[in-house]
Amino acid sequence: QDDTFKQVIAHAKEYGYIFSSSEIYDGLSAVYDYGQNGAELKKNIKEYWWKSMVQLHQNIVGLDAAILMHPTTWKASGHVDAFNDPLIDNKDSKKRYRADVLVEDHAEKINQKAQKEIAKARKRFGDKFDEEEFITTNPRVIRYKKEEKEILERLAKSLTEENLADVKALIEELGIACPESGSKNWTDVKQFNLMFGTKLGASADSATDLYLRPETAQGIFVNFANVQKTGRMKIPFGIAQIGKAFRNEIVARQFIFRQREFEQMEMQFFVRPGEELKWFEHWKETRQNWHASLGLGEENYRFHDHEKMAHYANAATDIEFNFPFGFKELEGIHSRTDFDLKAHEKHSGKKLQFFDPEMNKNYVPYVIETSIGLDRMFLAVFSSSLKDEELEDGSSRTVLKLPAILAPYKAAIFPLVKKDGLPEIAQQIVEDLQWDFNITYDEKDAVGRRYRRQDAAGTPFCITIDHETKEDNQVTIRHRDTMEQKRVPISELKNIIAKEVDF
Ligand code: GAP
Repeated sequence: QDDTFKQVIAHAKEYGYIFSSSEIYDGLSAVYDYGQNGAELKKNIKEYWWKSMVQLHQNIVGLDAAILMHPTTWKASGHVDAFNDPLIDNKDSKKRYRADVLVEDHAEKINQKAQKEIAKARKRFGDKFDEEEFITTNPRVIRYKKEEKEILERLAKSLTEENLADVKALIEELGIACPESGSKNWTDVKQFNLMFGTKLGASADSATDLYLRPETAQGIFVNFANVQKTGRMKIPFGIAQIGKAFRNEIVARQFIFRQREFEQMEMQFFVRPGEELKWFEHWKETRQNWHASLGLGEENYRFHDHEKMAHYANAATDIEFNFPFGFKELEGIHSRTDFDLKAHEKHSGKKLQFFDPEMNKNYVPYVIETSIGLDRMFLAVFSSSLKDEELEDGSSRTVLKLPAILAPYKAAIFPLVKKDGLPEIAQQIVEDLQWDFNITYDEKDAVGRRYRRQDAAGTPFCITIDHETKEDNQVTIRHRDTMEQKRVPISELKNIIAKEVDF
């Protein structure tokens, strides 16, 4: 598992997807830059989300709110008082950790043991293996699963201000050691606010304290009335937004999974009070379908319904993905009641209500939120697409089987040789296709090597121009996943590519 993850990180760098931020200065911890291919993949994920949310829903509109907001926003939202992480220090190594993450990692290790048992049995029984039955009858797996569940339940209960001492007790009881030094000498658990502060204004005494937004959602809530009135929106309706968010994560790790600067794709769906659970189910299903449509593998997803949730939420679920380091949260779907709009009404003194003509009354709408981390989706797509394949001729290849619709380049155009007029024909094809697709051109090295390069970069099609092209106006198109090669007329290329990559 560790090796797979290392391979993902190395591949992302080697193929221009992700670099450490300011790498020439040795990087900045938990901040990353997206390279030439990463920027494209990220843009395509955004577009895929935006189209499915905004373009395909007549009752959902977009928004692009500022990162800096009036500071009272964060008082109203509860972030000033409650957006904290429980931190614990190791007295010997002086290293600081998130107490909840230490416990979660411990639980995950127990889950890994269960997974190992399941994998062993699958190997032993082959086709006859019934996973469901094995999980419910094998005593070891039952014990591991129970242990994991009990730890996570106890953790959830102790993550409130009054119960923090129990998190420390849990860490001690489980015998969790400092990952760096092995020491089990822990301090008490303390809360730490995750918002980055900054200042507005030139002189120190007149400056106003601001925060970099820790979520995009509040930009939507404070604009609820603006959008509803100017867009003449009728409930139920939604507002969608993609944008940067910032959190001073103390234990930032796992590559782009947990960063200090990241992007969210959030949608707040405003509904009639009392109808929120129906809409919650609707969005759960809709988001599940969105994920399924990308074909990253059903087995890589699982839903985690929250039994305990924030006091303002009345239903919550996480969509978890099987990242190289195990199943972790990718997206959250929350029924947030009227908590946020009511809090902003109270702090701003402005009405944030909707006049419902059918009910002939005003009310503060209830909200269903879908919130997905763009960088986490990037990691989900990237890590599940990276494959090492053994080929029939005994050789192997590394291929990035990105969904074609998300791939940075849709086709690579190769002249077989760098002479005889073939580069000119190839350039002409680039010029014709680049109006519709992102196209790359490569004339260096043997064609086989060029194929491998594009396989590893995730390009779904390679198109080769050879001497016969001059006679018959046909080229060889090779498919990344099947490696099948076909001779097709140049005039057909646009249709062939469009069939695979159009929304
Ligand atoms: N408005 C709700 C909200 O912000 P959240 O669970 O704190 O809820 C939503 O964040 C999503 O944002 C998460 O499911 C995750 O995908 C992403 N996310 C949160 N913190 C992140 C971080 N430090 N780095 C990358 N993505 C993050």
